[in-house]
Amino acid sequence: MQLNITIMELTKAHLVYFSPTFTSKQVATAIVQGTGIENVSEIDLTYHSPGSVQIPANSLAIIVAPVYGGKIAPLAMKRMEEIKGDNTPAVLVAVYGNRAYEKALMELDIYAVRHGFSVIAAATFVGEHSFSSVQNPISQGRPDKDDLAYAQNLGREIAEKVLNATDVEGLHLVDVRAIQRPKQPFFPLLGFMRKVMALRKKNVPMPKAPVTDSNKCTHCGACVELCPNEAILAGDELHTIAEKCTRCCACVKGCTQDARELNTPMAPLLSKYFQKQKLPQSLI
Ligand SMILES: Cc1cc2nc3c(=O)[nH]c(=O)nc-3n(C[C@H](O)[C@H](O)[C@H](O)COP(=O)(O)O)c2cc1C
Repeated sequence: MQLNITIMELTKAHLVYFSPTFTSKQVATAIVQGTGIENVSEIDLTYHSPGSVQIPANSLAIIVAPVYGGKIAPLAMKRMEEIKGDNTPAVLVAVYGNRAYEKALMELDIYAVRHGFSVIAAATFVGEHSFSSVQNPISQGRPDKDDLAYAQNLGREIAEKVLNATDVEGLHLVDVRAIQRPKQPFFPLLGFMRKVMALRKKNVPMPKAPVTDSNKCTHCGACVELCPNEAILAGDELHTIAEKCTRCCACVKGCTQDARELNTPMAPLLSKYFQKQKLPQSLI
């Protein structure tokens, strides 16, 4: 496939991300910093749709989104729908909470190809799990400084790949299926699956939204601002509209009074069985 660009004109980056708890945003920022491209346009999908956007061929698109249930967060996919490329070179990144990303990168790839992007690099990174808490830490503190150094280096390699291509043919596309999956120890995975099946058998309910402690909440409105889907209304902060809540935990992590909690039985299981930290992987 031919890329319709003049390589040396690749001086602008479009950073497309969805990041309720800011881990994807950190990874995205580190990658673009690594490229050395100074002219960066940020398209933050976290709080609203960007509307119709065409990213031109002579720029680099870096698309970063978190994994929910082994897929790209549905709200991110929905908000990306109106973003299109024009054979625009793109870097695809899935950020997950140290369990697994399953088909998420593939899903991003299908989106990218259908929307006019040419995938020149892909990566997976671990971010602190949205359900992580002091009691049940899950990949706490990720991306850490090593992850961010990896992301910056990836950015450098992407810039090199582009600059070293003597012609458009030299800028080969990647097949995201070839990316190395991180190692997953077998017995913890088995233990996790057994416990999840037991929960299902017993019909243990999964919370649809966080709860708020009325004794702690000061109605400061931070949760209203942080919610990506208007599931919390100003003045009614004790209540979360379950039908709108995506369980992203932005309101839990961003609560100034520690008043919000998503009491999911998955959190202790993820904390116990996914202790071994997975490493970032990339394909270029
Ligand atoms: C509803 C939901 C489902 C999730 N599913 C997965 C999953 O299947 N695998 C995984 O490893 N992490 C999963 N995560 C964790 C997120 O992918 C991870 O915390 C990510 O770093 C969040 O990105 P953000 O900080 O940019 O919002 C899930 C998080 C949420 C809220």
